[in-house]
Amino acid sequence: MSTKNTHTKISEANTPCFLVDIDRLKKNSDKMMETCRKLKVDLRCHTKTHKTLEAADILTGGTRRKIACSTIPECRLYADNDYEDILLAFPISADKIPRCAELANRLDEFHVMLSGLEGFPCLKDGASDLNAGKVWSVFVEIDCGYGRTGIAWDSDDTLEAGTLLKENPNTKLQGLYTHCGQSYDHMTPKQRKDHQKKIVSRLEGVAKKLRALGIEVPVVGTGSTPTCNMAEPVLSSFDEFHPGNYVFNDVEQLYLGSCKLEDIACCVATRVVCQRRDLNMLVVDCGFMGMSHDGMRQRPDDFCVIKDHPHLMYYDNSQELGKVKAKEGEKLDFERYPVGTILFIYPFHSCATAALYQEYLVHSGEKITATWKPVKGW
Ligand SMILES: Cc1ncc(COP(=O)(O)O)c(C=O)c1O
Repeated sequence: MSTKNTHTKISEANTPCFLVDIDRLKKNSDKMMETCRKLKVDLRCHTKTHKTLEAADILTGGTRRKIACSTIPECRLYADNDYEDILLAFPISADKIPRCAELANRLDEFHVMLSGLEGFPCLKDGASDLNAGKVWSVFVEIDCGYGRTGIAWDSDDTLEAGTLLKENPNTKLQGLYTHCGQSYDHMTPKQRKDHQKKIVSRLEGVAKKLRALGIEVPVVGTGSTPTCNMAEPVLSSFDEFHPGNYVFNDVEQLYLGSCKLEDIACCVATRVVCQRRDLNMLVVDCGFMGMSHDGMRQRPDDFCVIKDHPHLMYYDNSQELGKVKAKEGEKLDFERYPVGTILFIYPFHSCATAALYQEYLVHSGEKITATWKPVKGW
């Protein structure tokens, strides 16, 4: 028996498996493109969630231009397939210089990201790896309050970074980049509007100060899926959006109000393998190796959603097994869920769940139409 998923119908697939609803994915892509068109903002879709050529082709509208990646293998996959204008949206460090130089040398437009002044020396020293006529094209990452990577928006280091890049003959400032991860905080519509205004004023404030020093800032961009799925008109002052998760969306986006249930374009298919009538519980063949733990800490009671079975909840897992119970202490109808029953579970965090799979089964309705293989590694 093959262990590969070569079946053409979902009902025959080996489980657990990661399903991608191609019709929903295309709708998510169209919607983001429309948002960007309306706001007159370029879309630099981030590939971190899906890491496949096929999804990137849809998200770039077939242009094969302008993407952000989280790893060098992603950059290479796309560079090998004639993509251009690729940003490695990850803090640059010395270990990555030879591989980034190889990408910079073969692409017309390859950009790296400087997330702090401490990253500058490796660009300076690594210039010797670049071909004649090439310079490092650099996005400076600005932390607008998220508290992860990037130079704090209110620090003079932003100006120091711009000055270093301008004065060094082997570097040029391509733009400012902020991920804006704090958009994952729960907010009322009014709070979200104020928050987006604040991000604009912080990032545009940095751009203005740099320009006042005579430093060109061609691009200013932001992106996270909650920001871009719920974009306010004020964001039209940006040049670029770089969201990633919107390709699939997930239960976290649903709870934030960033998407609807019918916008979630991926799920895990899992089968009932045991009925524990004594414990009022079903056991399914998807543990944390197929679902991840993401969301369990924040929302232990409803971190994922079982499609078409709102009275059921997947509430606990070990490596290869998951536990499902009826919500609010209801009695489980065991006749309805014999061993072999397939359940479809929308994950809390699609990036984390997708990353566990070697392949995605792409489907339209019940029919599996393709298998996509995400690129792995760092
Ligand atoms: C640096 C960076 N840019 C862009 C994104 C995309 O954000 P989202 O997944 O919310 O679309 C992420 C997500 O983690 C990120 O870390």
